[in-house]
Amino acid sequence: MSLFIVCRSTLYQKYLARLAREQQIEILQSVPDLSGYSLVGDDAGLSLVSNRGEHGAIRIDYTEGGLDYRRKFGGGELIRKAVGLKAGYRPRVIDLTAGLGRDAFILAVSGCELTLVERHWLIHALLEDALIRGKRKAQDDDLQLAEILSRMSLRYEDANTTLEGLQPLSADVIYLDPMFPERKKKSAVKKEMQAFQNIVEKGMEVGLLQKAIKKAKKRVVVKRPKSASFLDEKKASFSISNNTLRFDIYLT
Ligand SMILES: C[S@@+](CC[C@H](N)C(=O)[O-])C[C@H]1O[C@@H](n2cnc3c(N)ncnc32)[C@H](O)[C@@H]1O
Repeated sequence: MSLFIVCRSTLYQKYLARLAREQQIEILQSVPDLSGYSLVGDDAGLSLVSNRGEHGAIRIDYTEGGLDYRRKFGGGELIRKAVGLKAGYRPRVIDLTAGLGRDAFILAVSGCELTLVERHWLIHALLEDALIRGKRKAQDDDLQLAEILSRMSLRYEDANTTLEGLQPLSADVIYLDPMFPERKKKSAVKKEMQAFQNIVEKGMEVGLLQKAIKKAKKRVVVKRPKSASFLDEKKASFSISNNTLRFDIYLT
């Protein structure tokens, strides 16, 4: 995959230059390569744009749009139930496959302390930007959001490394949302998933479940499409589902 870095705001100059240096990517000035993506820093934040226009720009925003709506008007009952949340009990959760941090945000809104782990540098950059931008905006005019975001801490590493260094029982719940199996009809896949399928290496979650079960204090939760097989063919203690999604719960 080729990547074109576009900087339209002075705010992002140093940040993008550092990312490009660390990842050994050239900051191109010419017309973007149509096989790849652009990482764009502008006044709205950092976003990932498909140069072929396969889908809209991907930007994480905790201050407006879908996630803000879910914070204010609810949703996410199934995931809350899956991690075992109940009155007076807010589990400490490690999300080993953070992605765009949507599931983690829903849990942080519900009062859980979250550690988000992401191994892909581009996705980590989008997440890091969203957390910094969100905290900056919230501290001025939205103290409730500031408190929610302060419960989310982000790590840029492979989940295998996180699990190796994790003190047994320090996380109540370990959460896994592996990449869904590729669907044949591209149109049926959401824009974020299309991008993920293009940029993220496949199979990076293999073996995490077994290791997570040894480290979680209470349970490991795995998100799956409703009719998918169990992750790594390991039967869950029980599952809960709605029309499209299933959470497999492994009690430890
Ligand atoms: C389906 S997405 C997760 C979406 C996320 N639950 C959300 O709410 O946005 C899976 C993510 O897991 C990450 N991932 C896969 N294997 C990983 C590993 N071994 N360590 C850390 N992150 C991993 C991928 O890079 C990808 O961003």
